[in-house]
Amino acid sequence: MEKPQTTEPAGTDSRGADPNDGTKVTRRSFGKAIAGGIGALIVASLWGLREWYHRRLNPIRVIAQTNEIPVRGSKIFQYPTDIAPCILVRTTETEYVAYSRLCTHNSCPVFWRPEDNAFACPCHGGMFSITNGAVLQGPPPRPLPRVLLEIRGDDILAVGMSNT
Ligand code: FES
Repeated sequence: MEKPQTTEPAGTDSRGADPNDGTKVTRRSFGKAIAGGIGALIVASLWGLREWYHRRLNPIRVIAQTNEIPVRGSKIFQYPTDIAPCILVRTTETEYVAYSRLCTHNSCPVFWRPEDNAFACPCHGGMFSITNGAVLQGPPPRPLPRVLLEIRGDDILAVGMSNT
């Protein structure tokens, strides 16, 4: 007895679909797409949460106006909270730096000393560089934490803290 001839064109399955055409959605590929979407959603949510947390710890705050202090002058402000003292120094006509005022030895407030181009701690003689907050002398074990700044128009903004 002879086997009946099929009428399907070459390269198609019994439903007439080409299994190699790449457009067929299988349960497995659908599951992979859903899992990928959920994974992307989780990553995006975690990134958003991280940004939100970072912004809470490092708020953007206007701390001074560009014409408010003279070159080599300074201004005391609070950042990132209202009980964290910091100091802003205008080093040139267009450049500013800012650091935490809390000495890294025993947290006495440091003062800007333009004649030494440094911050001085009155408690035990610690000195810190204006350039990078590094310890120049005395017992402080670490540099002063730096306040990250941005200038937008006439506003000087604190946008974060850096320990380097
Ligand atoms: S607290 Fe600043 S040097 Fe000791």
